[in-house]
Amino acid sequence: MERLENLLKLGSLVDPLLEKYVLKDADPEFHEALLYPIRTGGKRLRPALTLAAAVAAGGSMEDAMPAAAAVELAHNYSLVLDDIIDHSELRRGRPTVWKKYGLSTAILVAVHYRESIAQALNDTRDPKLFNEIMARTLKLLTEGERLDILFEQSGRSDEPYVVERRRRSVTLADYLDMVYKKTGALMETSCVFGALSAGAPAPVVEALGSYGRSLGYAFQIGDDIIDIFGREEVTGKRVGKDVEEHKLGNVVVLLAAEELGGREREELLAILRRDAVDAPSVKRALEIISSTRARERAEELRRRYSEEAVRALSVLPRNEGRSMLETLAEFVATREF
Ligand code: IPE
Ligand code: IPE
Ligand code: MG
Ligand code: MG
Ligand code: MG
Repeated sequence: MERLENLLKLGSLVDPLLEKYVLKDADPEFHEALLYPIRTGGKRLRPALTLAAAVAAGGSMEDAMPAAAAVELAHNYSLVLDDIIDHSELRRGRPTVWKKYGLSTAILVAVHYRESIAQALNDTRDPKLFNEIMARTLKLLTEGERLDILFEQSGRSDEPYVVERRRRSVTLADYLDMVYKKTGALMETSCVFGALSAGAPAPVVEALGSYGRSLGYAFQIGDDIIDIFGREEVTGKRVGKDVEEHKLGNVVVLLAAEELGGREREELLAILRRDAVDAPSVKRALEIISSTRARERAEELRRRYSEEAVRALSVLPRNEGRSMLETLAEFVATREF
């Protein structure tokens, strides 16, 4: 098995390209704000997936570099917007883009990133195909984010569109559908891009895409777990933020609500439905959640999807790329950051 530390460094190979595409056609005065998202760190998991998938498909990392840069740009693009949507002030242990530079500038950074993605994909072997896949992926991501806010139980009182369409109940199937769209689709595309960069045949593209889809579920379930039970020094994000943001679309909250009956279930939902969820309410919600098997069940689900991801690789020949993808799946199954 490949060592994890090396694999997480693998994704950083695209860093010079990220800067190249983001700074292209940008006014020098805008550079600092544009570089901020990519210079504040991040695990670079998505480009690592693209590069490893290219090798798994029998190709070279070199050929997959522009596509690998594009998926990391797409990820950062989504985070700039997601932090505005989620009112998040902290990411990677630093102020979020809107918090640091203001809302208008953050929106402009996002628009600029969207165009940088397209320019990176123009350097792939089939720009029209790669750009079409990316457009579809980002439309899925947008729909996932739309569902995520419709699964919130309160807030956004100045947004009648959301308030009128809000879901009172959310099932595990609803959750998985939302998660495939907001997180899984980009992971799937990250892997598909690796395969396509290698010129792989359809069954190989399909197997790697299926790995990325399953990994996406495991990844978001892990993200939901660390939102509730993680440590801010490790995650770089505020703990309990999903409760504060009224999110029933966090799997731990959802499984707790599903398991609980009677008074405690009502109490948990009532907290999510408060106009403002203050610190004592977050604490109480975490207590209620901790009295259930939600954490254990979420961990089981995360493990199951990570194993499903690895199984999708079984049609591929054993090589270094496949082994890297297996190590990444193990990381996603256990990560705390
Ligand atoms: C966070 O993604 C957003 C989700 C899809 C859950 P990451 O945890 O990969 O973020 P960085 O890039 O490593 O900070
Ligand atoms: C975000 O999910 C997924 C994206 C498409 C960006 P979250 O809202 O849970 O991600 P974090 O926790 O803010 O990183
Ligand atoms: Mg968020
Ligand atoms: Mg979000
Ligand atoms: Mg989260």
